[in-house]
Order: sequence, then structure tokens, then C-alpha cells
Amino acid sequence: MSGEKMWGARFSEELDERFAEFQDSLRHDLSLAFADLDTNLAWSEALADAGVISEQDLDRVAQTIEDVSEAWHRDGLPTSDAEDVHSLVEQHLVAELGDLGRRLHTGRSRNDQVATDMRLHLRQWVGVLIESVEGLCMTLVEKAEQHSADPMPGYTHLQRAQPVTIGHHCLAYVEMLSRDRTRLIDALARFDSCPLGSGALAGAAFPVDRDALAAQLEFQNGPTRNSLDATASRDYVCEVAFACAMVTNNLSRLAEDYVFFASHEAQFLSFGDPVSTGSSLMPQKRNPDAVELIRGRAALIQGALQATLSLVKSQPLGYNRDLQHDKEALLPAVEATNQCLLVAATAVEHAAFDVERCAAQAARGYLNATDLADLLVHAGVPFRDAHAQAGAAVNRAVALGVELQDLPLEAQRELLPQLSEGLAESLSLEAVLARRDVVGGAAPARVRAEVERWRVQLAEWAEGYHELDDLTAPEDPDHDLQNDDLPAAEPRLGDPEDP
Ligand code: ARG
Repeated sequence: MSGEKMWGARFSEELDERFAEFQDSLRHDLSLAFADLDTNLAWSEALADAGVISEQDLDRVAQTIEDVSEAWHRDGLPTSDAEDVHSLVEQHLVAELGDLGRRLHTGRSRNDQVATDMRLHLRQWVGVLIESVEGLCMTLVEKAEQHSADPMPGYTHLQRAQPVTIGHHCLAYVEMLSRDRTRLIDALARFDSCPLGSGALAGAAFPVDRDALAAQLEFQNGPTRNSLDATASRDYVCEVAFACAMVTNNLSRLAEDYVFFASHEAQFLSFGDPVSTGSSLMPQKRNPDAVELIRGRAALIQGALQATLSLVKSQPLGYNRDLQHDKEALLPAVEATNQCLLVAATAVEHAAFDVERCAAQAARGYLNATDLADLLVHAGVPFRDAHAQAGAAVNRAVALGVELQDLPLEAQRELLPQLSEGLAESLSLEAVLARRDVVGGAAPARVRAEVERWRVQLAEWAEGYHELDDLTAPEDPDHDLQNDDLPAAEPRLGDPEDP
């Protein structure tokens, strides 16, 4: 379908071909098509309410929008020579409705339209991302439960430091992801207000009911309160980009850990066939490409954050065409973030830990040296001296090629005179782990308790985002939100179709 430019009246020459192609945004904003249909419907209601079109006209518009939406859901989005998604939707409405379709842009601008479309679209994507974060958390909690008491070496500086459990390692990522989840909810709460009715920059000149518009489009915080800000600000784009960059940054750490764990050097886990690839040359290879690609995608998503920040930096108020690029930067990053979350869950699922080897490795390399110092503290030695004594004992053990608990009695008497009994039991892996019995500690009992706590939390998440209740606490009594009004965990508006 083709049509006139929306803005052609003052122009007699055609656009330069190269520039026409350059300014075209349809390939980047076509995904806003369903959001744009929603804003068109809401705007038509506002126009009917303001007496610009009749109630019968509104019925015709509503029916047409429903038909177009149905057709696009069924047959896929159309191709078009329209310069952007707003022109595309208008072309379709004018084709069906004639003059009535040509009335719908009354009082509105693509500036308030695109700001509204983008918020609607992102609201859905944020819902999708939250669900995917929750899904990955669930997978990690299950893995943690399975391995709550299975020891593995814990690292600092990538040097063996103290034993932890595999479950404890899993739950560390659940903590990070739960903060990422909150960040997404928090970002949503800040952009959950309706720009429609802001016009190009100064506000609509028709008496549209903006509260009704916001309610119709299910924005929880009512209409935006300044038309310049509403049409020209994209801080929410940056915030969503940051939330994506942060979550994938965290995933890149999980990916890196698992790449190492799967290495021949560590051999802590092996990835199943569904998430491994081979080499075209080296027949023996099994490569952890799934997590490597997550690690790599994180770089691109970080780039999107930089792009969105740079895009808005120093832009004068109000709207500038540069802003068109926000979609090109952010939307692929949002989609990639979601893919990373889904693939990470699959990779974790297919990561089989070698619990015997992990335990054996946790028992080697003096990961219990701190505990030896602690035993001396219990025997009355000041920690600083205990640290020095334990260090000397490690040196001796290294020289003799034994673990601390296997130091010959003689060496123990010489270096650790304050300790009478044998060390085998008190320095065993089980004892060392069990001692980490504080909130947040690696003791198996604590890890099990955390698994339980997370199970309750996950069940609560599955019921809906309660946190939004606080984050969007209404200041204006006119917008008294009820819990029931808050968005469900599912994406609400039918699109994105294939997130
Ligand atoms: N495609 C533009 C964007 O995404 C919206 C159109 C606004 N165009 C304009 N000339 N004011 O920001």
C-alpha cells in the first residue's frame, strides 16, 4: 500500500532518493504497529469525546482498527513504502475509512504518538523480560536445591579461596537477577504515564480528556504532566537499556564461570548436547558456545546503552529527529536480552556438575587455611598471630606435598603447639562448610534455607508484581490505584508477537 507523505503540502519536489531511504524508519519501528493501532483507537475515542468525530464515526474506526489488527495478527505485518509506522497505520485507516481516516490526526503529532507507542511497546517487553528473569531464577533455584550440600571450590582473584557449595554459587546469581528484576519494574514505574495529547510539543489544542486517554491505554500513572518533556525525553529508553545491560552483564559473569567450569582444567561440569557445539576441524572438541554467545551478546547490549545515552545527550528541547534512532538502538537489545535469559536457563538446565570432582577439588589446595587460623583463635591465639602460624603451616604442607590436615604430627606440634587434637575432622570439607552458618553463608543448612526462601519468593512473583504497588504509589488522589489495576505478569496488549 502506498500513499502521500503526511507532511507534503509545502513541498513540490520529491525527496532525494538517498535521503528518503536515510530517513525511513519503518524497518525499525514496524514492531510498534500494534501499539500504534492501540493509540489510534484511544485517540479516536478522545476525539469523539471532544466532539471532533461522531459516536458512529468512532464505531467505524473501532471496527476498522479491530479488523486491521486481526488481519495483521493473522497474516503478519504488511510491507509498505510508508516512511514510518504511523504513516503505515494511517494509510491503512484512510484506505478503509476515507475522509474519516483523514480526520484522525487532528490535534495529534507523530511526536506524542511515537512516545506513546514506544512506552506501550516497552511496557510489554519489560513484562516479558521480567518473566524470563523469573524463569531463569527458577532454574537456578532448582539447581541450587539439587546441589545445596555439594561442595565446590570458591574463588577470589580466580585463586582457590574457601569451599562453597554449588547451590551457593547458583543462588549468588539468583540474588543478582532478582535485583535486575526490580530494576526492570522500577524503570517501568517511571515511564508508565501517557504522553498522548502532548501534540508536537505544546499540548493538543482540542479538549481531549487526557486522564481518560491514560486510563484507556492502561497507563498506571495517568497522563504525563509536561508536553515538552513528554515528547522529547527518552530517559526511560536509557533506563531500560541500562536494565538490559546490567542483566546481561550479570549473565556474562555466569557464562564466564561456566566456561571455566566446563574447561578441561576445571572439569566441574559438562554441558549436554543441546547446548554444546563441535569443531569443524578438531573431532574431540565440545565447546560451550551457548554461554560464550551470551557473554558476547552482553557486549552488543552494553553498546545499546552507550548509544541511547549519547543519543539524548545535549539535545535541545523539544523533539528532535535524532530520537528516531532510539528504537534502532534499544529494541534489538531488548530482544537480545530476552534471548540471553532464555538460553541461559537452558544452559543451566543442561549443565551437569561432576559433584565428586567438585568436592575433591574443594578439598585440595589449602582452602581450609582460614579455618586452621580460626581453630587457633578458639585456642586463645590472637587472629593476627594465628594467621601467621597458619601461613607457616601452609608453607610446610606445600613443601611436604600434603594437605593441612595431613601434616605430620611432628610438624603440627612444632608449628601449631596450641592445637592438641588431630586436624582431620576439624579441617574436613564438611566441617569447614558447616562453619559458614550465618545468614548468607555457604553452610549447606543455610543454602537449603535460602532455597526455601526463594521458593516462596518465586511463588509470590508468579502471582504478579507486588512491588509496583509501592513504586507507583499514587500522589494524586484522582489516580487512586488498586492492586487489581496493576499489570499482570503476562504482556498485556497482544504484541510483541514473538518475543
Ligand atoms: N519516526 C519518528 C521517531 O521515531 C517519529 C516521527 C516524528 N517526525 C517528525 N518529523 N517530527 O521519532
